[in-house]
Amino acid sequence: MSDKEIVINRTDLARRVNELGIAITHDYTGAHLMVVGVLNGAFIFMADLVREIKLDLQVDFVRVASYGMSTKSSGEIRFSKDVELDIKDKDILIVEDIVDTGRTLVCLQNYMKKRGAKSVRTCALIDKKERREVEVVIEYVGFDVKEGFLVGYGLDCGEKYRQLEEVFQLLKP
Ligand code: IMP
Ligand code: MG
Repeated sequence: MSDKEIVINRTDLARRVNELGIAITHDYTGAHLMVVGVLNGAFIFMADLVREIKLDLQVDFVRVASYGMSTKSSGEIRFSKDVELDIKDKDILIVEDIVDTGRTLVCLQNYMKKRGAKSVRTCALIDKKERREVEVVIEYVGFDVKEGFLVGYGLDCGEKYRQLEEVFQLLKP
């Protein structure tokens, strides 16, 4: 028996990423777009998404240190890798794999604003809206998923499964 079942297939991923790219291309025409991916989970989605954005843009990444129970939604965040390009006056598009409680994203959005970004929006491949603990705005959502722990297309469970081409839900043993 398989330990996982498919939730989003290759065709649907490609179609949705293309649609997101078209929307972002439309909305950011004339902007100073910098796409900031959240490592490690966003690496595959980000690679596909930027190729669907038909504009000049810059690419950078952040990696957020795990914060256990101590995180506040006030904008405090600890990076194990910060952005390296200058954020000031840029139109920042944060690219996340999945938004769960929303705590990571709130912190990231506040951080980008504090560093002087001209605008900050977010594109998440998957929104697990029903698990939200803090209010957060996500302008571009790929898919709404209600439940389950998801892996593949960048998403991991204990650093495993990231390279799978499709998104799966792990089944309970
Ligand atoms: P949040 O601060 O609770 O929204 O945390 C979101 C982060 O938790 C994501 O960026 C993922 O790294 C991780 N995460 C949440 N749910 C899942 C899942 O179903 N599969 C894999 N990673 C997840
Ligand atoms: Mg993540």
